[in-house]
Amino acid sequence: MKKYNIALVGVGAVGVEMLRCLKQRNFPVGKLKIFARSARQMMVDNRTYNVEAISDNAFEGMDIVFFAGTEGETGAAVVYGPQAVKAGAVVIDNGSDFRLKEDVPLVVPEVNADTIKNNKGIIANPNCTTIQMVTALSGIQKKFGLEKIVLTTFQATSGAGRSAAEALWQETKALGEKNSAETSYRDIDRVVYDKTKSPFSAQIAFNAIPQIGGFGDANFTSEEWKTVKETHKIFDDSDIRISTTCVRIPVFGAHSEAVYFTTKEKVTLDQVTECFENTEGVVFAKAQGDYAMPLDVENKDLVYVGRLRKDPFEENTFWIWCVADNLRKGAALNAVQIAEKLV
Ligand SMILES: NC(=O)c1ccc[n+]([C@@H]2O[C@H](COP(=O)([O-])OP(=O)(O)OC[C@H]3O[C@@H](n4cnc5c(N)ncnc54)[C@H](OP(=O)(O)O)[C@@H]3O)[C@@H](O)[C@H]2O)c1
Repeated sequence: MKKYNIALVGVGAVGVEMLRCLKQRNFPVGKLKIFARSARQMMVDNRTYNVEAISDNAFEGMDIVFFAGTEGETGAAVVYGPQAVKAGAVVIDNGSDFRLKEDVPLVVPEVNADTIKNNKGIIANPNCTTIQMVTALSGIQKKFGLEKIVLTTFQATSGAGRSAAEALWQETKALGEKNSAETSYRDIDRVVYDKTKSPFSAQIAFNAIPQIGGFGDANFTSEEWKTVKETHKIFDDSDIRISTTCVRIPVFGAHSEAVYFTTKEKVTLDQVTECFENTEGVVFAKAQGDYAMPLDVENKDLVYVGRLRKDPFEENTFWIWCVADNLRKGAALNAVQIAEKLV
Protein backbone atom coordinates (compact mmCIF):
# COMPACT_ATOMS: atom_id res chain seq x y z
CA MET A 1 0.00 0.00 0.00
CA LYS A 2 1.27 3.47 -0.86
CA LYS A 3 2.33 5.48 2.18
CA TYR A 4 2.06 9.23 2.60
CA ASN A 5 4.46 11.57 4.37
CA ILE A 6 2.49 13.50 6.95
CA ALA A 7 3.26 16.67 8.89
CA LEU A 8 1.17 17.90 11.82
CA VAL A 9 1.41 21.49 13.06
CA GLY A 10 0.05 21.94 16.60
CA VAL A 11 -0.15 19.40 19.38
CA GLY A 12 -2.82 20.90 21.62
CA ALA A 13 -6.31 19.49 22.20
CA VAL A 14 -6.89 18.81 18.48
CA GLY A 15 -3.31 17.88 17.50
CA VAL A 16 -3.10 15.08 20.07
CA GLU A 17 -6.41 13.72 18.84
CA MET A 18 -5.09 13.87 15.26
CA LEU A 19 -2.23 11.54 16.22
CA ARG A 20 -4.73 9.15 17.83
CA CYS A 21 -7.04 9.17 14.80
CA LEU A 22 -4.19 8.55 12.33
CA LYS A 23 -3.09 5.55 14.39
CA GLN A 24 -6.53 4.16 15.22
CA ARG A 25 -7.65 4.34 11.58
CA ASN A 26 -4.39 2.84 10.27
CA PHE A 27 -3.79 5.80 7.99
CA PRO A 28 -0.91 4.82 5.67
CA VAL A 29 1.65 7.14 7.25
CA GLY A 30 5.17 7.11 5.78
CA LYS A 31 7.33 9.77 7.45
CA LEU A 32 5.66 11.69 10.28
CA LYS A 33 6.85 15.17 11.27
CA ILE A 34 5.28 17.04 14.17
CA PHE A 35 5.66 20.77 14.77
CA ALA A 36 4.66 23.21 17.50
CA ARG A 37 6.02 26.52 18.74
CA SER A 38 8.70 24.80 20.81
CA ALA A 39 10.57 21.51 20.47
CA ARG A 40 10.04 18.70 22.99
CA GLN A 41 9.11 15.06 23.36
CA MET A 42 5.48 14.21 23.92
CA MET A 43 3.80 11.03 25.13
CA VAL A 44 0.44 10.05 23.59
CA ASP A 45 -1.10 6.66 24.47
CA ASN A 46 2.26 5.29 25.65
CA ARG A 47 4.06 6.30 22.48
CA THR A 48 6.72 9.02 22.47
CA TYR A 49 6.64 11.54 19.64
CA ASN A 50 9.35 14.06 18.76
CA VAL A 51 7.97 17.56 18.37
CA GLU A 52 10.11 20.03 16.39
CA ALA A 53 9.96 23.81 16.60
CA ILE A 54 8.28 25.05 13.43
CA SER A 55 10.52 26.86 10.96
CA ASP A 56 10.58 27.91 7.33
CA ASN A 57 11.13 25.09 4.82
CA ALA A 58 9.72 22.51 7.26
CA PHE A 59 7.56 20.71 4.72
CA GLU A 60 9.94 19.42 2.03
CA GLY A 61 8.88 15.91 0.97
CA MET A 62 5.56 16.01 2.83
CA ASP A 63 2.38 14.85 1.05
CA ILE A 64 -0.24 16.06 3.53
CA VAL A 65 0.14 18.75 6.20
CA PHE A 66 -2.51 18.97 8.93
CA PHE A 67 -2.77 22.30 10.73
CA ALA A 68 -4.05 22.31 14.33
CA GLY A 69 -2.35 25.47 15.52
CA THR A 70 -3.50 28.99 16.13
CA GLU A 71 -5.65 31.09 13.81
CA GLY A 72 -5.26 34.63 12.48
CA GLU A 73 -2.76 36.68 10.54
CA THR A 74 0.20 35.54 12.65
CA GLY A 75 -1.22 32.04 13.24
CA ALA A 76 0.34 28.80 12.12
CA ALA A 77 -1.84 28.10 9.07
CA VAL A 78 -1.66 31.60 7.60
CA VAL A 79 2.11 31.82 8.02
CA TYR A 80 3.06 28.24 7.11
CA GLY A 81 0.08 26.92 5.07
CA PRO A 82 1.17 28.55 1.78
CA GLN A 83 4.72 27.27 2.37
CA ALA A 84 3.37 23.73 2.67
CA VAL A 85 1.40 24.10 -0.58
CA LYS A 86 4.50 25.51 -2.30
CA ALA A 87 6.45 22.47 -1.12
CA GLY A 88 3.90 20.29 -2.95
CA ALA A 89 1.76 19.15 -0.01
CA VAL A 90 -2.01 19.32 0.41
CA VAL A 91 -2.97 21.28 3.53
CA ILE A 92 -5.92 20.23 5.69
CA ASP A 93 -6.59 23.08 8.13
CA ASN A 94 -8.63 22.87 11.33
CA GLY A 95 -8.81 26.64 11.81
CA SER A 96 -11.09 29.30 10.38
CA ASP A 97 -8.61 31.21 8.20
CA PHE A 98 -9.40 29.61 4.84
CA ARG A 99 -12.89 28.18 5.39
CA LEU A 100 -14.84 30.78 3.45
CA LYS A 101 -12.32 31.34 0.65
CA GLU A 102 -13.84 30.55 -2.73
CA ASP A 103 -11.14 28.14 -3.93
CA VAL A 104 -10.98 26.22 -0.62
CA PRO A 105 -13.35 23.26 -0.23
CA LEU A 106 -15.01 23.21 3.21
CA VAL A 107 -15.57 19.54 3.80
CA VAL A 108 -17.53 17.13 5.95
CA PRO A 109 -16.92 13.83 4.13
CA GLU A 110 -20.38 12.39 4.83
CA VAL A 111 -21.94 15.53 3.34
CA ASN A 112 -19.84 16.97 0.51
CA ALA A 113 -16.78 14.75 -0.12
CA ASP A 114 -17.21 15.45 -3.85
CA THR A 115 -15.85 19.00 -3.34
CA ILE A 116 -12.42 17.69 -2.23
CA LYS A 117 -11.35 17.30 -5.85
CA ASN A 118 -11.72 21.07 -6.40
CA ASN A 119 -8.91 21.87 -3.96
CA LYS A 120 -6.02 24.06 -5.04
CA GLY A 121 -3.77 22.87 -2.24
CA ILE A 122 -5.82 23.81 0.82
CA ILE A 123 -8.86 22.01 2.23
CA ALA A 124 -10.64 23.39 5.30
CA ASN A 125 -12.27 21.57 8.17
CA PRO A 126 -15.42 23.39 9.33
CA ASN A 127 -15.96 24.61 12.87
CA CYS A 128 -16.83 21.84 15.37
CA THR A 129 -20.31 23.28 16.00
CA THR A 130 -21.09 23.32 12.29
CA ILE A 131 -19.68 19.85 11.56
CA GLN A 132 -22.00 18.04 13.94
CA MET A 133 -25.08 19.99 12.88
CA VAL A 134 -24.57 19.53 9.13
CA THR A 135 -23.79 15.85 9.63
CA ALA A 136 -27.03 15.45 11.59
CA LEU A 137 -29.13 17.40 9.07
CA SER A 138 -27.48 16.24 5.85
CA GLY A 139 -30.07 13.57 5.08
CA ILE A 140 -32.91 16.02 5.71
CA GLN A 141 -31.27 18.66 3.50
CA LYS A 142 -30.71 16.19 0.65
CA LYS A 143 -34.22 14.70 0.80
CA PHE A 144 -36.52 17.55 1.77
CA GLY A 145 -34.43 20.75 1.70
CA LEU A 146 -34.04 23.08 4.68
CA GLU A 147 -35.91 26.35 4.93
CA LYS A 148 -34.88 27.45 8.43
CA ILE A 149 -32.63 26.36 11.31
CA VAL A 150 -32.64 27.77 14.84
CA LEU A 151 -29.65 26.43 16.73
CA THR A 152 -28.74 26.65 20.41
CA THR A 153 -25.40 25.15 21.42
CA PHE A 154 -24.02 23.92 24.74
CA GLN A 155 -20.30 23.75 24.06
CA ALA A 156 -17.53 21.94 25.91
CA THR A 157 -14.50 23.80 27.23
CA SER A 158 -12.07 21.71 25.15
CA GLY A 159 -13.54 23.47 22.13
CA ALA A 160 -11.48 26.49 23.19
CA GLY A 161 -8.28 24.41 23.42
CA ARG A 162 -6.27 22.56 26.00
CA SER A 163 -5.85 25.53 28.35
CA ALA A 164 -9.61 26.12 28.45
CA ALA A 165 -10.44 22.58 29.55
CA GLU A 166 -7.64 22.88 32.12
CA ALA A 167 -9.22 26.13 33.44
CA LEU A 168 -12.48 24.26 34.13
CA TRP A 169 -10.60 21.61 36.10
CA GLN A 170 -8.51 24.11 38.09
CA GLU A 171 -11.58 26.21 39.00
CA THR A 172 -13.48 23.09 40.07
CA LYS A 173 -10.57 21.98 42.27
CA ALA A 174 -10.22 25.49 43.73
CA LEU A 175 -13.91 25.48 44.71
CA GLY A 176 -13.42 22.16 46.50
CA GLU A 177 -10.38 23.48 48.34
CA LYS A 178 -12.08 26.75 49.31
CA ASN A 179 -15.16 25.12 50.85
CA SER A 180 -15.66 22.38 53.39
CA ALA A 181 -17.42 19.22 52.21
CA GLU A 182 -19.94 19.77 55.03
CA THR A 183 -21.02 23.23 53.80
CA SER A 184 -24.46 23.28 52.19
CA TYR A 185 -24.50 24.21 48.48
CA ARG A 186 -26.38 27.38 49.45
CA ASP A 187 -23.51 28.60 51.58
CA ILE A 188 -20.46 27.67 49.54
CA ASP A 189 -18.23 30.43 48.25
CA ARG A 190 -18.78 29.95 44.51
CA VAL A 191 -16.42 32.47 42.98
CA VAL A 192 -12.86 31.36 42.16
CA TYR A 193 -12.40 33.12 38.82
CA ASP A 194 -8.88 34.39 38.13
CA LYS A 195 -8.73 35.98 34.69
CA THR A 196 -4.96 35.54 34.55
CA LYS A 197 -5.47 31.77 34.65
CA SER A 198 -8.40 31.33 32.27
CA PRO A 199 -9.01 32.03 28.58
CA PHE A 200 -12.69 32.66 29.37
CA SER A 201 -14.23 36.07 30.14
CA ALA A 202 -15.91 34.68 33.26
CA GLN A 203 -15.74 31.69 35.59
CA ILE A 204 -16.73 28.54 33.69
CA ALA A 205 -17.03 26.13 36.64
CA PHE A 206 -20.73 25.85 37.63
CA ASN A 207 -21.61 28.58 35.14
CA ALA A 208 -22.77 29.11 31.53
CA ILE A 209 -21.25 31.79 29.28
CA PRO A 210 -23.50 32.92 26.40
CA GLN A 211 -20.61 34.24 24.32
CA ILE A 212 -18.15 32.29 22.15
CA GLY A 213 -15.89 34.59 20.14
CA GLY A 214 -16.23 38.33 19.75
CA PHE A 215 -19.43 40.20 18.87
CA GLY A 216 -19.97 40.89 15.18
CA ASP A 217 -22.73 41.90 12.76
CA ALA A 218 -26.20 42.24 14.30
CA ASN A 219 -24.67 41.41 17.72
CA PHE A 220 -24.19 37.74 16.89
CA THR A 221 -20.81 36.31 17.94
CA SER A 222 -18.14 35.03 15.55
CA GLU A 223 -18.95 31.44 16.56
CA GLU A 224 -22.64 32.07 15.80
CA TRP A 225 -21.83 33.53 12.36
CA LYS A 226 -19.61 30.51 11.59
CA THR A 227 -22.62 28.22 11.90
CA VAL A 228 -24.50 30.36 9.38
CA LYS A 229 -21.82 30.98 6.75
CA GLU A 230 -20.20 27.55 6.92
CA THR A 231 -23.54 25.73 6.73
CA HIS A 232 -24.51 27.76 3.67
CA LYS A 233 -21.22 26.82 1.98
CA ILE A 234 -21.30 23.11 2.91
CA PHE A 235 -24.95 22.66 1.90
CA ASP A 236 -24.41 24.93 -1.12
CA ASP A 237 -27.61 26.78 -0.22
CA SER A 238 -27.36 30.31 1.12
CA ASP A 239 -31.15 30.68 1.27
CA ILE A 240 -31.40 28.63 4.47
CA ARG A 241 -32.41 31.04 7.27
CA ILE A 242 -30.13 30.21 10.21
CA SER A 243 -30.09 31.85 13.62
CA THR A 244 -27.85 30.67 16.46
CA THR A 245 -27.02 31.18 20.13
CA CYS A 246 -23.72 29.60 21.25
CA VAL A 247 -23.16 28.93 24.95
CA ARG A 248 -20.07 27.60 26.72
CA ILE A 249 -20.90 25.15 29.52
CA PRO A 250 -18.76 23.39 32.16
CA VAL A 251 -18.20 20.15 30.25
CA PHE A 252 -14.73 18.87 29.25
CA GLY A 253 -15.47 17.15 25.93
CA ALA A 254 -18.41 16.94 23.46
CA HIS A 255 -20.72 19.68 22.26
CA SER A 256 -24.51 19.45 22.58
CA GLU A 257 -26.97 21.22 20.31
CA ALA A 258 -30.72 21.82 20.33
CA VAL A 259 -31.62 22.13 16.65
CA TYR A 260 -35.02 23.44 15.49
CA PHE A 261 -35.53 23.14 11.74
CA THR A 262 -38.16 23.62 9.06
CA THR A 263 -38.03 21.67 5.81
CA LYS A 264 -38.74 23.13 2.37
CA GLU A 265 -40.96 20.20 1.42
CA LYS A 266 -44.02 18.98 3.27
CA VAL A 267 -43.00 16.07 5.52
CA THR A 268 -44.38 13.83 8.24
CA LEU A 269 -42.70 12.82 11.50
CA ASP A 270 -42.39 9.27 10.13
CA GLN A 271 -40.54 10.45 7.03
CA VAL A 272 -38.16 12.54 9.13
CA THR A 273 -37.60 9.62 11.51
CA GLU A 274 -36.73 7.33 8.61
CA CYS A 275 -34.37 9.94 7.22
CA PHE A 276 -32.41 10.24 10.50
CA GLU A 277 -32.25 6.44 10.72
CA ASN A 278 -30.50 6.38 7.36
CA THR A 279 -28.22 9.42 7.63
CA GLU A 280 -24.54 8.54 7.20
CA GLY A 281 -22.43 9.25 10.28
CA VAL A 282 -25.45 9.53 12.59
CA VAL A 283 -26.61 7.30 15.43
CA PHE A 284 -30.31 8.01 15.82
CA ALA A 285 -32.13 7.23 19.08
CA LYS A 286 -35.80 6.78 18.23
CA ALA A 287 -36.95 6.10 21.80
CA GLN A 288 -37.47 9.44 23.55
CA GLY A 289 -35.53 8.53 26.72
CA ASP A 290 -32.59 7.21 24.76
CA TYR A 291 -30.78 10.50 24.08
CA ALA A 292 -26.98 10.72 24.32
CA MET A 293 -25.19 13.22 26.57
CA PRO A 294 -21.64 14.59 26.47
CA LEU A 295 -20.27 12.00 28.90
CA ASP A 296 -21.66 9.23 26.68
CA VAL A 297 -19.97 10.36 23.47
CA GLU A 298 -16.48 11.49 24.49
CA ASN A 299 -13.96 9.60 22.31
CA LYS A 300 -16.73 8.38 20.01
CA ASP A 301 -16.66 9.06 16.29
CA LEU A 302 -20.28 9.50 15.26
CA VAL A 303 -22.91 12.19 15.72
CA TYR A 304 -25.68 11.21 18.14
CA VAL A 305 -29.20 12.46 17.44
CA GLY A 306 -32.24 12.02 19.67
CA ARG A 307 -35.33 13.70 21.09
CA LEU A 308 -36.92 14.13 17.67
CA ARG A 309 -40.23 15.97 18.07
CA LYS A 310 -42.58 17.69 15.66
CA ASP A 311 -43.48 21.24 16.62
CA PRO A 312 -47.17 21.09 17.56
CA PHE A 313 -47.82 24.59 16.18
CA GLU A 314 -45.70 24.74 13.01
CA GLU A 315 -45.89 22.71 9.80
CA ASN A 316 -42.77 20.74 8.69
CA THR A 317 -40.90 21.89 11.78
CA PHE A 318 -39.01 19.67 14.21
CA TRP A 319 -36.61 19.63 17.16
CA ILE A 320 -33.62 17.36 17.66
CA TRP A 321 -30.93 17.05 20.33
CA CYS A 322 -27.52 16.33 18.87
CA VAL A 323 -24.22 15.48 20.62
CA ALA A 324 -20.72 14.75 19.28
CA ASP A 325 -17.11 14.76 20.46
CA ASN A 326 -15.84 18.19 19.35
CA LEU A 327 -12.21 17.05 19.25
CA ARG A 328 -12.93 13.98 17.11
CA LYS A 329 -15.83 14.42 14.65
CA GLY A 330 -15.71 18.17 15.33
CA ALA A 331 -12.03 18.44 14.39
CA ALA A 332 -9.34 15.71 14.24
CA LEU A 333 -11.41 12.81 12.95
CA ASN A 334 -13.08 14.92 10.27
CA ALA A 335 -9.64 16.08 9.10
CA VAL A 336 -8.35 12.50 8.92
CA GLN A 337 -11.51 11.41 7.07
CA ILE A 338 -10.81 14.17 4.53
CA ALA A 339 -7.26 12.81 4.12
CA GLU A 340 -8.65 9.29 3.64
CA LYS A 341 -10.90 10.51 0.83
CA LEU A 342 -8.01 12.47 -0.64
CA VAL A 343 -5.72 9.47 -0.93
N1 LIG B 1 -10.73 22.40 20.16
C1 LIG B 1 -11.69 22.13 19.29
O1 LIG B 1 -12.73 21.50 19.61
C2 LIG B 1 -11.57 22.59 17.87
C3 LIG B 1 -12.57 22.19 16.97
C4 LIG B 1 -12.47 22.60 15.64
C5 LIG B 1 -11.40 23.38 15.25
N2 LIG B 1 -10.44 23.76 16.16
C6 LIG B 1 -9.32 24.55 15.67
O2 LIG B 1 -8.16 23.72 15.71
C7 LIG B 1 -7.00 24.51 15.96
C8 LIG B 1 -6.25 23.96 17.18
O3 LIG B 1 -7.10 24.06 18.31
P1 LIG B 1 -6.72 23.43 19.73
O4 LIG B 1 -8.00 23.46 20.48
O5 LIG B 1 -5.98 22.16 19.56
O6 LIG B 1 -5.71 24.54 20.31
P2 LIG B 1 -4.66 24.40 21.52
O7 LIG B 1 -5.05 23.30 22.43
O8 LIG B 1 -4.54 25.77 22.05
O9 LIG B 1 -3.27 23.98 20.79
C9 LIG B 1 -2.64 24.80 19.85
C10 LIG B 1 -1.35 24.12 19.36
O10 LIG B 1 -0.87 24.88 18.25
C11 LIG B 1 0.51 25.17 18.45
N3 LIG B 1 0.79 26.46 17.83
C12 LIG B 1 0.24 27.65 18.11
N4 LIG B 1 0.76 28.64 17.34
C13 LIG B 1 1.65 28.02 16.54
C14 LIG B 1 2.53 28.49 15.52
N5 LIG B 1 2.57 29.76 15.15
N6 LIG B 1 3.31 27.58 14.90
C15 LIG B 1 3.27 26.27 15.25
N7 LIG B 1 2.47 25.77 16.20
C16 LIG B 1 1.67 26.65 16.84
C17 LIG B 1 0.70 25.20 19.93
O11 LIG B 1 2.09 24.98 20.16
P3 LIG B 1 2.74 24.87 21.61
O12 LIG B 1 2.19 23.55 22.16
O13 LIG B 1 4.21 24.80 21.36
O14 LIG B 1 2.28 26.05 22.38
C18 LIG B 1 -0.23 24.06 20.39
O15 LIG B 1 0.44 22.83 20.29
C19 LIG B 1 -7.50 25.95 16.13
O16 LIG B 1 -7.42 26.60 14.89
C20 LIG B 1 -8.95 25.75 16.53
O17 LIG B 1 -9.77 26.86 16.20
C21 LIG B 1 -10.50 23.38 17.44
